[in-house]
Amino acid sequence: MLETALAAAERAGVLLRDGRPDDLGVAATKTSPIDVVTEMDLAAEKLITGHLAEHRPDDGVLGEEGASVDGTSGVRWIVDPIDGTVNYLYGLPAWGVSVAAEYRGETVVGVVEIPSRAETFRAVAGHGAFRNGRPVRCRPSPSLDQALIGTGFNYVQERRVAQAEVARRLVPQVRDIRRSGSAAVDLCDVAAGRLDGFYERGLHRWDWAAGDLIAREAGALTGGRPGEPLGEDLTVAASPGVFRTLQPLLDALGAWHD
Ligand code: IPD
Ligand code: CA
Ligand code: CA
Ligand code: CA
Repeated sequence: MLETALAAAERAGVLLRDGRPDDLGVAATKTSPIDVVTEMDLAAEKLITGHLAEHRPDDGVLGEEGASVDGTSGVRWIVDPIDGTVNYLYGLPAWGVSVAAEYRGETVVGVVEIPSRAETFRAVAGHGAFRNGRPVRCRPSPSLDQALIGTGFNYVQERRVAQAEVARRLVPQVRDIRRSGSAAVDLCDVAAGRLDGFYERGLHRWDWAAGDLIAREAGALTGGRPGEPLGEDLTVAASPGVFRTLQPLLDALGAWHD
């Protein structure tokens, strides 16, 4: 499964890097006028699902751009063909191809390909996380006031206002806040020790499936609201000491609701 995930993500990464039209525009909008999809999102998802159908014909697939296959094997692939579409549209570098495999609901393989950085992050459950073949570990936890925290803003306008308010209240309590524009890249950056933590409200399974496994296999803790698994309400990932302070603080700030 790892080989299949690596090959599918690499092929999509090459297509997206080398095949990006100079006049790339918005093909359609989804949940709001700023929630865009380009022809390249669709082309990359088609390539990945075609690769999976060829190599893993009995597996299920869930893709952001509509791929939905009921498999018979118990394995389901979770695909975000471009995580960071707005960056890709504008020619900014923070975007990645996210491919994960679940077995009976547990993520067992995760790959995030980041072509602009020539980086491939991968993890297999219980076997560590790697960047271009070398093991990665999350950063030793500083105190929260020394922590660099990534976040993101949802495409739903009302939710963005609430998210901005949480960020306004969080920023004096941390070293600084980053908003890269790709949750998958952010989760890999937690794994690689380039961020101390990351949180966002309203992410979907395809945004975090691969990056969550990569972050956990690099020693980070991940979750949702205290005591809950990460999910659409809230996604938090951080090195352990930061996680233990950040997660309850975000809960107190109401980061999980609109
Ligand atoms: C988005 C990115 C972004 C996050 C949004 C996601 P997309 O995914 O991960 O960083 O803030 O919530 O929807 O649409 O570029 O695949
Ligand atoms: Ca999208
Ligand atoms: Ca995404
Ligand atoms: Ca996407």
